[in-house]
Amino acid sequence: MEYLNIEGTKIPLVGLGCFALHGRALTESLAIALEEGYELFDTAFKYDNEKEMGKYFTSNNIYRENIIIQTKVCARQLLGSKILWGVDKRSISSAYEYSCRLLGRSYIDVYLVHSPFVKVANYYRELVKLKDDGKIGIIGVCNFTREQLQAIKLATGIYPMLNQIEVHPYHNSKELVAFCKDNGIIVEARSPFAHGDALHDWLTNKVLQKIAKEYNKSVPQIILRWITQQNIIALPRSKTFQHIKDNINIFDFDLTSTQVSVLDRLNRNQSYGFISTINS
Ligand SMILES: NC(=O)c1ccc[n+]([C@@H]2O[C@H](COP(=O)([O-])OP(=O)(O)OC[C@H]3O[C@@H](n4cnc5c(N)ncnc54)[C@H](OP(=O)(O)O)[C@@H]3O)[C@@H](O)[C@H]2O)c1
Repeated sequence: MEYLNIEGTKIPLVGLGCFALHGRALTESLAIALEEGYELFDTAFKYDNEKEMGKYFTSNNIYRENIIIQTKVCARQLLGSKILWGVDKRSISSAYEYSCRLLGRSYIDVYLVHSPFVKVANYYRELVKLKDDGKIGIIGVCNFTREQLQAIKLATGIYPMLNQIEVHPYHNSKELVAFCKDNGIIVEARSPFAHGDALHDWLTNKVLQKIAKEYNKSVPQIILRWITQQNIIALPRSKTFQHIKDNINIFDFDLTSTQVSVLDRLNRNQSYGFISTINS
């Protein structure tokens, strides 16, 4: 495993995406991932599996020191109806406490705003306070554009520490990644396989197949190496034993600059299934 170092916290360059994993699929994926050495797990209030994950880790004596759980607060929790939990819970602190309860923790390693929304900067100030109070390790955002990141900086004096964005061969987000790096913002690649929707294209791409063969790896492993070689944290989701194993087994080779360029050139600025701004 390779790591990034963020304010003294070591964060692995590959984590398990936990969107849409529930019940046996979730617990089996977590078990395989832990066995294979995963230390980073990405969930969200919206994924509705924080409680299951918390229960799994607690009942298997997986302690905070050994793994990093990142979760997210969504606009619906903050802007939604008062009756979401029967009382007015419209603050980041309440959302944070709620996720802590579900996860069975009193501290969240990485806590992110799930997507941009109007006046998000007001809420972000509260997130900064939670970090200053020692309740969160890393605070950040997801799916923020350069302008939205700048708005946070303007309102709070600091950039988010991390931006989780769509990065895969058809959507390499080069300019945004460069902006984040220039401003000390860590980048995480969500949907590194475009939800699986573009995988068929890549698996049957002769050039990618040739690169994969050269290293005795699979095409998905080549994609993840291309992401992590850019110092971007990749969050592949999988519930298949061999894939979970493969997705972390990518640190014993380096792509050449020519091979990196081959992957870079696949870009189409094609996004898979996300509405970038919620105007509510
Ligand atoms: N912040 C946000 O707004 C946001 C949005 C989307 C996603 N995310 C995060 O990013 C994570 C990943 O994104 P995603 O859920 O969109 O999916 P993804 O990781 O882009 O793609 C998942 C698909 O790829 C397949 N796959 C995984 N590894 C493979 C391998 N080695 N070989 C072949 N196929 C493989 C999986 O099938 P198998 O299960 O059979 O392996 C699944 O069908 C999410 O789970 C979530 O944590 C965040």
